[in-house]
Amino acid sequence: MNENIQKLREMVRGSDNIVFFGGAGVSTESGIPDFRSVDGLYNQTYAFPPETILSHSFFEKNPEEYYRFHHDKLSIAGAKPNAAHIRLAQLEAEGKLRAVITQNIDGLHQAAGSKNVLELHGSLLRAYCSRCGKSVSAECMNVSEGVPRCDCGGVIRPDIVLYEEALDDDTVSGAIHFIRNADMLIIGGTSLAVYPAAGLINYYRGHKLVLINRTETGADAMADLIIRDKIGEVFSQI
Ligand code: OAD
Repeated sequence: MNENIQKLREMVRGSDNIVFFGGAGVSTESGIPDFRSVDGLYNQTYAFPPETILSHSFFEKNPEEYYRFHHDKLSIAGAKPNAAHIRLAQLEAEGKLRAVITQNIDGLHQAAGSKNVLELHGSLLRAYCSRCGKSVSAECMNVSEGVPRCDCGGVIRPDIVLYEEALDDDTVSGAIHFIRNADMLIIGGTSLAVYPAAGLINYYRGHKLVLINRTETGADAMADLIIRDKIGEVFSQI
């Protein structure tokens, strides 16, 4: 076993208030592409940049185009939790991990059994009417063409945070609370490029900050331990 994994194991062994903060890289080993890697969603060519398609104003003006992208690129059908999701859920069940804070919208942490999951960017597994606000089943979005509509005529949308939209206040306050009180913060599978989510890690006050990411991030200088391996492979060893 390599030295970094050994260090990570020791840190986990000595902690009982671990918080995990993650992003799209946590789900790549489940077959869901991330955003900014070379084979990620943002390095493919579309009629509009993905950040534009995933924005509030675009959704309002071009729901058909949004849904084409949604069905084509945001599909999570058949994706299964990988070793990272599963081990995090086990650590929570063992009383060592307090919260998973994720930017992901795929529901895979809950599928693995995690209970306290703070979804900063919402979830594709929930949907609501953009006009009357009524919650509807996410299955309503599975229309083969066109745009799914509510009984009131409004366009149904996924319960995700689009660009130009604010994060949910309670989720952010909860994330700050857990990070501030954590004795160990594990950050994994995120480029830390998107704010305000990325800024939340600055609330950590401890001395066990671990970064598990294949590429460099802006938080490398803050980390007490950096592991550049695949996160699923790392978690399968701790
Ligand atoms: P990114 O695509 O920006 O970053 C994913 C990071 O994970 C990259 O640094 C990869 O090197 C790393 N990575 C990929 N696979 C990995 C693996 N198996 N093991 C370890 N590291 C791996 O994704 P996020 O940081 O999640 O927001 O992006 C943040 C937000 O940008 C998303 O939530 C989304 C997007 O726009 C919205 O849609 C609002």
